[in-house]
Amino acid sequence: MERKVCIVGAGISGLLACKYALSKGYHPIVFESRSAVGGVWTQTVETTKLQTPKPLFQFSDYPWPSSLETLFPDKNQVIDYLRSYAKHFDLLKHVRFNTKVVSIKYEGPSHEEIQSWALWSGNGDPFGNMGKWTVNTQDLLNQSTQVMEVDFVILCVGRFSDLPNIPQFPSGEGPEVFQGKVMHSMDYSALDYGSARNLVGGKRVTVVGFQKSALDIAMECSIVNGVEHPCTVICRTPHWNVPDLFPWGIPITSLYLNRFSEFLLHKPGEGPLLSLLATLLSPLRWGISKFVEFDIMYRHPLKKFDMVPDHSFLQEVSSCKLSIVPEGFYDNVEKGSIILKRSPAFSFYKEGVKLDYSIKSTKPIKSDLVIFATGYKGDQKLKDIFESSEFKDYMFGSSNETLSLYRKCIHPRIPQLGVIGFSESLANLYTSEIRCRWLFELLDGKFKLPSIEEMEKDIIEWEKFMKRYSGKYYRGSCIGALHICYNDQLCIDMGLNPKRKDGFWAELFEPYGPMDYA
Ligand SMILES: Cc1cc2nc3c(=O)[nH]c(=O)nc-3n(C[C@H](O)[C@H](O)[C@H](O)COP(=O)(O)OP(=O)(O)OC[C@H]3O[C@@H](n4cnc5c(N)ncnc54)[C@H](O)[C@@H]3O)c2cc1C
Ligand SMILES: NC(=O)c1ccc[n+]([C@@H]2O[C@H](COP(=O)([O-])OP(=O)(O)OC[C@H]3O[C@@H](n4cnc5c(N)ncnc54)[C@H](OP(=O)(O)O)[C@@H]3O)[C@@H](O)[C@H]2O)c1
Repeated sequence: MERKVCIVGAGISGLLACKYALSKGYHPIVFESRSAVGGVWTQTVETTKLQTPKPLFQFSDYPWPSSLETLFPDKNQVIDYLRSYAKHFDLLKHVRFNTKVVSIKYEGPSHEEIQSWALWSGNGDPFGNMGKWTVNTQDLLNQSTQVMEVDFVILCVGRFSDLPNIPQFPSGEGPEVFQGKVMHSMDYSALDYGSARNLVGGKRVTVVGFQKSALDIAMECSIVNGVEHPCTVICRTPHWNVPDLFPWGIPITSLYLNRFSEFLLHKPGEGPLLSLLATLLSPLRWGISKFVEFDIMYRHPLKKFDMVPDHSFLQEVSSCKLSIVPEGFYDNVEKGSIILKRSPAFSFYKEGVKLDYSIKSTKPIKSDLVIFATGYKGDQKLKDIFESSEFKDYMFGSSNETLSLYRKCIHPRIPQLGVIGFSESLANLYTSEIRCRWLFELLDGKFKLPSIEEMEKDIIEWEKFMKRYSGKYYRGSCIGALHICYNDQLCIDMGLNPKRKDGFWAELFEPYGPMDYA
C-alpha cells in the first residue's frame, strides 16, 4: 500500500521535497497558502537580489540557464528559475494552491507512550505503523475546510515569511501614541515598486533594524527622497555587513567554505588529532576573521559612524547573519540621505521615535512612517502548526531558542515528520536539497536511524559546537561555519563518499557547493 506523504509549503524547500518524493515513487500532496510557488521570493523588495553567488544557490540537477551571466540574479530571475524548476520536474500538479494547513495532529499512541519509545516513530521505521497525522486545511478562496489523513508530514513552512517579529512596548510607548504610519518590512515588500516609492516619497522615514531588509529598504528610501528627507536607520546591534563576498579580492568561499577552513574549527565528533589541529590553527582562524573585518572597515566608514560591531566576523558567519550592503549605501550615509542611529532600545511618541534614554545627546526622531525591518518569528510559526502542546514544546526545547532536530531534519520525539528549510546556512537552497535527499533515502529504507537517546546526544553535541563559534548570536539552527562537516554526516548516512573532489589539493582548498553532490 502506498504511503501518503504531505508537504506543507511550496517555497524552495517544499519544491525540493516534492521532487525527491516523486523520485522515490511517492505521490505527495503539497499544500501552499499562496497562489504561486517560490515562497519568500514571491514578495520581496524590488531591489532584492540573491546574496549567495548563484553557483552555490542552484539545484544540483537543474543549473541556472547558461545565458544568465550575473553572479547574483535579481528577484525576478530567481522566481523564474524556481518556476522553471517546478515545470521541468512537473511539480505543479501536486501543489494545492491557496490552501493553508491550519494544524496537524498525530492520531495514535499517547504522549506517555511516545515518551517511552527507544526508537523514532516507535519502531525505527519512518512510517512507524503506530499512528497517522491528521492534516486540517483551509481553502483561502472559499474558506472551506478539509481534513486528510497521511502517513508522513514534511514541514517546509519557511523561517522568514508570514509571521513578522513586531517589537513590544510598555503601554503608552508603542505605535498607539504615534500619529504617523507604522508597518513591517513584510508589508513593504508586498508592494510593487511604484507603490513603495509613492508610500515613502516626501516622507520622513525611520527604519528599525540593521540586517538585510533594513539595509535594502533604507537604500530605496534614500534613492527616492535624497538628503531632503533623509531616512533614519535605528540599529540595535552593529553587524559585519559586507560590501561584497570578495574581501581584499579573495572569494569568501575560499576562506569559509572549503575543507581547510573547517580544519580550523572544532567539530562535533572530532577525534584527538582533528581537535589538536583546530587548536594549533586557532591563530589562523582569528587571523582570517580579522582579515575580513579589516576589509570591511577599509571599505565602509564604520568607525566614523560608530558602527563597529563588538563581535567577530567568525561569529557573524557562524550565526548565518551575513548581509551584503547595497551598493552606494555608505555613500548615501556620507551624503546624509541615510542617517544611522545606534540605540539598544526605542519607543514612540506622538511625532516619531525616541531612542534609549541612556544615549546622550539624542534628540527624538520626527517621523511620518516607521518601518520595522525586525525579522520574523519563524519559530512561532512552526510551533503553531501543531495541535499538541507537547509537540510544540519538543520543537524548541526548554530554552525556546533552539530547534532540536537530528541532522537538522527530524525531531527524535515527533514521529513520522520532517522539517526542511528551518535550520539555516549561507546557501539555503543547497542545504535544503541535500536534506530532502537524505530524508527520502531514510523513507526509502536506505539507512536506519540510531536510537532516540543517541540522536538526542548528537543534537546536544552539535549545539555545543555551533554555540562555541556564534556565541551570544547563536540561533540554534545555523550550520554556517560547519557546512562540509554537516554534509559529510548526511553522505555517510546515505552510504555516499563524503569526499566529493578530485584530488588531495582540490579536496582541501576548493570551495564546496551543490554540484559536488550531484
Ligand atoms: C528577501 C529574502 C531574500 C533571501 N535571500 C537569500 C539568499 O540570497 N541566499 C540564501 O541562502 N537565502 C536567502 N534567503 C533565505 C530564504 O528564506 C531561503 O533562501 C529560501 O528561499 C527559503 O525557502 P523555504 O521554502 O524554506 O521557505 P519560504 O520561501 O518561506 O517558503 C515557505 C512556503 O510555505 C508556505 N506556508 C507556510 N505556512 C504554511 C501553511 N500553514 N500552509 C500552507 N503553506 C504554508 C508559505 O506560503 C511559503 O510559500 C532570503 C530570504 C528572504 C526573505
Ligand atoms: N537576498 C536578499 O537580498 C535579502 C533581502 C532581505 C532579507 N534577506 C534574508 O532574509 C532573512 C531575514 O532578514 P531581515 O533583515 O528581514 O531580518 P533579520 O535578519 O532577522 O534582522 C532583523 C533586524 O531587526 C533588528 N531587531 C529585531 N528586533 C528588534 C527590536 N525589538 N528593536 C530593534 N531592533 C530589532 C535585529 O537586531 P539584532 O541584530 O540586535 O537582533 C536585526 O538588525 C535573512 O536571512 C536575510 O539574509 C535577504
